[in-house]
Amino acid sequence: MAKKLKIAIDGPASAGKSTVAKLVAHKLKYIYCDTGAMYRAVTWLAIQQNVALNDDLALAEMLKTIEIKFVPSKNGQLVFVNGNDVTKEIRMPDITNNVSTVAAQVSVRTKLTQQQQEIAVNGGIVMDGRDIGTTVLPDAEIKIFLVASVKERALRRFKENQIKKIATPLRELEREIEERDRKDSTRVVSPLVQAEDATKVDTTSLNIEEVVSKIMEIVENKLEKA
Ligand code: DC
Repeated sequence: MAKKLKIAIDGPASAGKSTVAKLVAHKLKYIYCDTGAMYRAVTWLAIQQNVALNDDLALAEMLKTIEIKFVPSKNGQLVFVNGNDVTKEIRMPDITNNVSTVAAQVSVRTKLTQQQQEIAVNGGIVMDGRDIGTTVLPDAEIKIFLVASVKERALRRFKENQIKKIATPLRELEREIEERDRKDSTRVVSPLVQAEDATKVDTTSLNIEEVVSKIMEIVENKLEKA
């Protein structure tokens, strides 16, 4: 039987990670784990419970009883927090613009990193995020670092928002993406950096199929040698 690989896909906001990771997982019949959704889920719960988003100790307390679940459905993976379906809410601007603060807290990173390592323990997984190749799965056989220009990423988010009927102007999206990049790459714990052994893929002028086939080529190469 083919070896079940661990595939880490990291990169900045809106570089296409989750779309691509989902498709690669589907092709390989692997589990897909969206770690950004887990940070969003924690942010959602903190806002619900009026926990200050930069209060590491209060967040640690809240995390003692949190249960984050991914549930497959015919409309894609649903995200549940303590039994609440938060799939749509965690994509709203309020969460998007606050998640970097929560994701910078040590207690949150420690807890979620541990959960992500448990999910990936048997391999056969595509996990996307910011620190998968560097911190969560440093032993991943395949590490991809997806990048794209800020302009292109803002445009992609703008088009996604149109479908969801969220009316944020393009210029504002560019500013938000720049700000999130800055926060994610300058935080002290597990900042967004390319792992030394990751392959960088610039998606600015590539469509989704082109990115997926680039990654599949790398995967097939690895499986042939395994
Ligand atoms: O990929 P996303 O936009 O859904 O991620 C939401 C936020 O979570 C992002 O601003 C950074 C943070 N994040 C992180 O710090 N580490 C990860 N492994 C995944 C996401």
